[in-house]
Amino acid sequence: MSEAGAEAGPGPGARPEPEPSLATVGLIKAFGGVTALDSATVTFHHGKVNALIGPNGSGKTTFFNCVTGMIRADAGRITYRGRDITGKPPHRIARAGIGRSFQLCRVFPRMTVLDNLLAAVRPSGLAGQLAGAGKREETERARSWLARMGIEHLERAEARQLSWGQQKLLELAGVLMSEPELVLLDEPAGGVNPALIDRICELVRELNAEGRTFLIVEHNMDLVMSLSDHVVVFDRGRPIAQGPPSVIQSDERVLGAYLGV
Ligand SMILES: Nc1ncnc2c1ncn2[C@@H]1O[C@H](COP(=O)(O)OP(=O)(O)O)[C@@H](O)[C@H]1O
Ligand SMILES: [Mg+2]
Repeated sequence: MSEAGAEAGPGPGARPEPEPSLATVGLIKAFGGVTALDSATVTFHHGKVNALIGPNGSGKTTFFNCVTGMIRADAGRITYRGRDITGKPPHRIARAGIGRSFQLCRVFPRMTVLDNLLAAVRPSGLAGQLAGAGKREETERARSWLARMGIEHLERAEARQLSWGQQKLLELAGVLMSEPELVLLDEPAGGVNPALIDRICELVRELNAEGRTFLIVEHNMDLVMSLSDHVVVFDRGRPIAQGPPSVIQSDERVLGAYLGV
C-alpha cells in the first residue's frame, strides 16, 4: 500500500462510520395547533439496537406513524438505507423491510393465537383463499415464531385469553412473520411483568445478533440503557441529544427534559 493510501484510510483505532438505517430530515407534523414533530432530523444505525426516548407527548409515536406511512408528514424527508420512502403507503414501507408493533398492542382478540399470525401475512377474502396453497409453510413458520417467543403451547387459545405480556409477544411474532429487517417497537415493556421483559430483551438481542436492526421507543430506562447501542432523545418533537447510552445518561439537556431542571 502506498503511503498516501494508508493516510486516506481510517487509522487502526478509528471506528467505521455507522451505516444509516432509517433517517429523517426536517420532519414536521402538526395536529391543529399542536406541533408533534418540529423539523426532526435524525439518523438511526443499521444493524444496531437503537432507542428513541423522550417525555410523554414528545412525538415518538407520531414519528413511528410518519415513517411507517400511517400518517403523512406535513414536510420533510424520510429515507431507509438511503432510499427515499417519504409519502409511501404502509404496504410499500413494509415491503421495503420495515415492521412495527403498537404501543397499545394490536392483536385480534377473538382469533386464535395461530390465526393471528396467519392473518398478519395473508390477505383476507378471496385473495386469502387463493393464497391458501402456501398455508402449510406459513403455519410452520408461525409455529416456529411462537416457539421462539415461548408461547407455542398457546397456539389454540384466543388472543384475549393471553396475559398482556404474552399478547405483546404475540404481536411481535406477527411483526416478524413478514421478516422485516428493521423492527420498530413502541413501548414493548409497557405494562409487562419483569419475567417477560427479560424474555423480550433476550429476543431483541438474539434477533439483532442474527442481523435485524431495532428501533425501540421505551420508558423503562434500565432496558433502554442496557439494550441499545444508540439513543436518540426527543423533546417537543425534535431530537435534543443522540449518542451511546453512556453519553446520554449524563447529558444535561436530557436530564433537563425529563426532570425539568
Ligand atoms: N392524532 C392526533 N391528533 C391530535 N393530536 C395528536 C395526535 N397524535 C398525537 N397528537 C399530539 O401530538 C403530540 C405528540 O404525541 P405522541 O407522538 O403520541 O407522543 P409520545 O409518543 O412521545 O408520547 C402530543 O401532544 C399529542 O397529544
Ligand atoms: Mg407514544
